[in-house]
Amino acid sequence: MAPPLPLVFLLMIHVCVSGVSSADWGVSYSPSHICALKDSSVIMRCTYTYPTGYKIKKVFWTKTLVKHNGEHPDLSEDPEYSQRLQYLGDKQKNCTIRLSHVTLKDSHKYYFKFNTDKDKWIGYPGVTLTVTDLQVESPERVTEGDSVRLTCKSSCTLTDRATFIWYRNSQPLTERRDRNNELLLQSVRREDAGRYSCAVHGHNHISPAVQLNVMYPPRSVSVSISPSGEIVSGDSVTLICSSDSNPPAVTVAGILITRRGDRVTISLY
Ligand SMILES: *[C@@H]1O[C@H](CO)[C@@H](O)[C@H](O)[C@H]1NC(C)=O
Repeated sequence: MAPPLPLVFLLMIHVCVSGVSSADWGVSYSPSHICALKDSSVIMRCTYTYPTGYKIKKVFWTKTLVKHNGEHPDLSEDPEYSQRLQYLGDKQKNCTIRLSHVTLKDSHKYYFKFNTDKDKWIGYPGVTLTVTDLQVESPERVTEGDSVRLTCKSSCTLTDRATFIWYRNSQPLTERRDRNNELLLQSVRREDAGRYSCAVHGHNHISPAVQLNVMYPPRSVSVSISPSGEIVSGDSVTLICSSDSNPPAVTVAGILITRRGDRVTISLY
């Protein structure tokens, strides 16, 4: 039975690039997919093998399979990477690198390549780096008493060890978490309103803040009279109706004025 087409293609790439059989040659990445938080440092673990009797001439990483002047572009010579890239490996079998201060633009496939005195090898299919930022997902308006769930969203799945931190108006919160990246406000109070943001413990990146607006009906409705004290027949008086609510109440349903003898009672309904 013929091997499936992608396998044939894969083998052809290796043979074309290196001009040798894949028996003793190889590069492996562990893990082969990395989800990293913006601004963090990423370690791409990598090992490589080649037959004995070869001398390593050059080891480097690249992010393109397209050659420039007959060679794959060396990432360490790319001004966008050179300051942030650190080769932690060696010239025997370890090809680990660290990339620091990752940005969303660094989301890419990366390949390790090594050239020996005789042959060359590129570690296809590479390691896939996805860089994510954090976004707070929250309902725009909630009513006092509602159960509210805020989620700290990332575009890829961060490791299980990621511990999320929540902030309200830049102050860290201690409220209970439902799931790791969720903040549960069980019975939301008006004091819970504010600007929420989230972060991952041990990392600098912090999400943009999102406003949580808590609606509540008018309370502490009161009327005040100006001027206060005794009023003489013919005076003008101003009645001020005030209440605490969100959004602010604009309409008073009605004012009831009752007169008994010389006492006037004013009430709201
Ligand atoms: C490769 O080097 C890195 C960085 O020095 C190290 O953490 C890792 O354990 C090494 N891997 C192997 C297989 O030796």
